[in-house]
Amino acid sequence: MEVVICRDEEEIGRLGADVVSRLVRTRPEAVLGVATGSSPRPVYAELVARVRAGELDLSGVSTFSLDEYVGLPEGHPASYRTEIRRELTDPAGIPPERVHSPQGSAGDLPAAARAYEKRIAAAGGVDVQLLGIGSDGHIAFNEPGSSLASRTRIKTLTRRTREDNARFFDGDTDAVPTHCLTQGLATIMQARHVVLVATGEGKARAVAQLVEGAVSARWPATVLQWHPHVSVLLDEAAAAGLG
Ligand code: F6R
Repeated sequence: MEVVICRDEEEIGRLGADVVSRLVRTRPEAVLGVATGSSPRPVYAELVARVRAGELDLSGVSTFSLDEYVGLPEGHPASYRTEIRRELTDPAGIPPERVHSPQGSAGDLPAAARAYEKRIAAAGGVDVQLLGIGSDGHIAFNEPGSSLASRTRIKTLTRRTREDNARFFDGDTDAVPTHCLTQGLATIMQARHVVLVATGEGKARAVAQLVEGAVSARWPATVLQWHPHVSVLLDEAAAAGLG
């Protein structure tokens, strides 16, 4: 695991975008795993800026989102599919038919979870997976206690995660869905390169566990210690708990 402590979000954006740019230069049809939430936004902003400047062409890539809320109607402004299209794929010119997300509005959610795993495999797996981390150490929506061997499935969101995410629902925790479809920890571990971004003091404890804690389902992100190629991009506040 390589840990890079960056000066600011711009530097995080540049380093994260460099990983994607290098990949796409050699493999224009690369498969990107994409997280939603605030952490990866500097990377997405930099990628979009490079596309607009004509320095990067992302029109051949496919994306696979980590997770989706259950029960939000298609096109809901806080749905993760809407968010990833708004923040990255539409402005970066990635065609919507190659933008994949778990189908949180499906009638048969277990079938939708199995279908999502098959779609990732059929695409040849994820080349670079961008990740954030929750203040409780979750990655995707694998909350504490998630099996390290888990695959895409339905999960219940903790009260803490719903409170953390209420900012995307006009501050109303009760409006945040109670369930999601999420890639499992074993699904994420199959990505060939993982780039995790964390900023702000609220992430310091989770980052310390990720880098220096014992591998345990209590802090799900710690499973990444077993991954052969992980880059962790931090600001100083998020790095404050490291020894
Ligand atoms: C989002 C996701 C979550 C977030 C995490 C951190 O797709 O999978 O694990 O990465 O909750 O969220 P932010 O970046 O908003 O602090």
